[in-house]
Amino acid sequence: MNKSMQKYCIAPSILSADFARLGEEVRSVEAAGAGFIHFDVMDNHYVPNLTIGPLVCKAIRPHVKIPIDVHLMVSPVDSLIGDFAKAGADYITFHPEATQHIDRSLQLVKDAGCKAGLVFNPATPLEYLDWVMGKIDMVLLMSVNPGFGGQAFIPGTIEKVRVARQKIDAHIARGGQPIRLQVDGGIKTDNIAALAVAGADTFVAGSAVFGAPDADGKGYTTVFKKFMDSLRDL
Ligand code: DX5
Ligand code: ZN
Repeated sequence: MNKSMQKYCIAPSILSADFARLGEEVRSVEAAGAGFIHFDVMDNHYVPNLTIGPLVCKAIRPHVKIPIDVHLMVSPVDSLIGDFAKAGADYITFHPEATQHIDRSLQLVKDAGCKAGLVFNPATPLEYLDWVMGKIDMVLLMSVNPGFGGQAFIPGTIEKVRVARQKIDAHIARGGQPIRLQVDGGIKTDNIAALAVAGADTFVAGSAVFGAPDADGKGYTTVFKKFMDSLRDL
């Protein structure tokens, strides 16, 4: 693995996993090389779907060592932060439109001992970052409208990744802390390289991972190898 491979990280979204075998599913993607478990929380209010909460996060926590990356698609945000921190979340990201006070919500995440991130829908401007960059550990760009797994990738995301990468690099050049640049939605083995070239380092993949055929009887190793092969030598 060359140096640039080490920075790339696949974060399987368990939204597309078999919920009846969730412990086994997260252990299997960790063994295949996942860098994070991406945990999609939907409230049927901020997004038109309903998924999982802190109890499920607590249940899977003992099954893996890798960080759990909780993506909150809920409004309001603040009341759930402490519960997810207690349930073992490592990262908590939320959408700026979903909270009345972005800086306060970020501070709540940090005070709860987690890493914090802001999530941008396809039409949400990146300017929300400008005055909170120093408090952020991750920027998540949605490459679909949030709410469902298995949607088609929105190509305009690639340009947005470039702009976000410039902002992050400028911040780091001014002495700022490192910030991961994550993309979420419709990521497959045939578009991951373009996102990496544009500057993304962390790739959420739900249906592409959990829907992949188990070609060698070793769970998800085949699809992980395909993802990593697509990122080699960039
Ligand atoms: C969508 C979620 C995504 C989703 C990705 O609202 O935030 O994490 O599960 O699924 P795929 O990879 O199938 O687009
Ligand atoms: Zn997500």
